[in-house]
Amino acid sequence: MKFRTCFCAALVCHLALVAAQAQSGSDATASASDIPHLRTRGAATQLIVDGRPFLALAGELNNDSATSLEYVRRLWPRLVLAKINTVLAGVSWNQIERQEGKFDFSVLDGVIQGARSHDLRLVLLWFASWKNSLSSYPPDWVKKDFDRFPRARTKAGKTVELLTPLSDANRDADAGAFAALMRHVREVDGREHTVIMIQVENEVGMEGDSRDHSAAADAAYAGPAPRELLDYLQQHKDTLIPEFRKAWEAAGFKTSGTWEEVFGPGAATEGIFMAWHYARYLDRVAAAGKAEYPLPMFVNAALYGVGRTEFPPSGGRPWDLVMDVWKAGAPRIDFLAPDAYGNFAEFCAKYSRPGNPLFIPESLNQAVGAARVLYAFGRHNAIGFSAMGAVERSSAPDTALIGSYDLIEQLAPLIAQHQGDGAMSAVLLSPDDPPQKVQVGNYTLTVSFAKPRVAPLTQPTPIPPNTFAAGIFIAAGPDEYFVTGLGINITFAPNTPGLPHAGLATVEEGSFVDGRWVPGRMLAGDSTDEGQSIGIAWPPGSWVPEYRQRASPDAIQRVTLYRYP
Ligand code: DGJ
Repeated sequence: MKFRTCFCAALVCHLALVAAQAQSGSDATASASDIPHLRTRGAATQLIVDGRPFLALAGELNNDSATSLEYVRRLWPRLVLAKINTVLAGVSWNQIERQEGKFDFSVLDGVIQGARSHDLRLVLLWFASWKNSLSSYPPDWVKKDFDRFPRARTKAGKTVELLTPLSDANRDADAGAFAALMRHVREVDGREHTVIMIQVENEVGMEGDSRDHSAAADAAYAGPAPRELLDYLQQHKDTLIPEFRKAWEAAGFKTSGTWEEVFGPGAATEGIFMAWHYARYLDRVAAAGKAEYPLPMFVNAALYGVGRTEFPPSGGRPWDLVMDVWKAGAPRIDFLAPDAYGNFAEFCAKYSRPGNPLFIPESLNQAVGAARVLYAFGRHNAIGFSAMGAVERSSAPDTALIGSYDLIEQLAPLIAQHQGDGAMSAVLLSPDDPPQKVQVGNYTLTVSFAKPRVAPLTQPTPIPPNTFAAGIFIAAGPDEYFVTGLGINITFAPNTPGLPHAGLATVEEGSFVDGRWVPGRMLAGDSTDEGQSIGIAWPPGSWVPEYRQRASPDAIQRVTLYRYP
């Protein structure tokens, strides 16, 4: 009975999707500019969906949530309530190609239909050859045939449950399935654009050793470093990642020779070698998919501990340190994306580079996420931020993250207007951080972590660990700003010639409704520390005493400034 219900439900979804396509007249000729794509704008890259810049306010489902329609059905309403507009959902190779060459997209159709009917966009995560380094998602006809589909080995000769990236058979089987997937997505969604981006594999990288020691890998490692890589390094010599350039320089900037001759002996070079082979493999998989439907495609990275001095062995992981190798080896991968759980600000800076827009597939939710999302969009022109396990890790609504997603949603038109033009910035502050100075437009803002004043005869409220203040600032005119955030104080100083002091002319609290500014209270007196600074209170439900939390539903302030001698 249960099987028949699922089968009918899946069939209904598929027919509904095909009907929707027929109605919208989808065809393979949809031009690249019609479908979701990336577009450079000044120093930024924007994700364009339905012709307009799109900011992905996202949540990633747990790995296998989207493999059952029954299971995912109850999540859609919760995702909508969480102010999420984009869902990162896994598509597993072993589910769509259980038999070689036979594809079943019925569950995927239901997922696309479910997201679409809740006005949600999707980023599909292609769980195929690798997931967190290992190979748990290939279909069993791949897993069982380890002669045809070889594994990686450690130096000690131990087989790892990880398909080697140096096998054409592994690569071509994956690429074939991925092409079928992208063809199907184009057929059922080529007009609606529910699916806006694709993550190819998940957190790839060698496990159990610093490189694969299979026979094919040993032969390749003993051979010459590839011409294409060395040509790329020469062409980009002045813009290479400093740590990587140093490693190449240390061995004399050689432009030919074995891997170890060019980059020096050791685990770091083994990581560079693996990065090249993962990049080449994923590039072919992406190429096969883009030939069917060229959506933006990225890879995500499990990260490393910052503060290291030496060049760490990456095992080929798409770390910023080997971004040049990935860019050289995988031109069909549009960007590398950090799964930034720790050291958020550092990794945002390391991954938002010319030609590599910032997208955060996985990070923390709740109060930490609420601060981080403002920083990623405001400081690094992010195209999206996603909390891992967004609505599945707690049944209670995540009011903190919902609050920040609501702020970004309100500011979205302004953010899209100012991405890449230098008129927007943001801060992320820990309690002991000194005030930060940021130049935005004609003024320098000094932003500090707001520690609530202690009322007489009371004790200061202890600041919980991992508490971050954050703010986003947009210069909407020569002397006009929109500012918002969590627990900050802001003062302004001119940074252009003229009268030396900046004063608060008008301060309005308000909200954006469908892009239109709707002012609420006019602020002065206590609200602006008698005209000395802008205070953005901590949101409701945060760590400060209730009377110090923001009371107003309006969380944004519009500030106009004047100059005086
Ligand atoms: C990072 C991976 O990319 C995710 O799929 C998941 O495994 C998390 N780690 C841990 O939940």
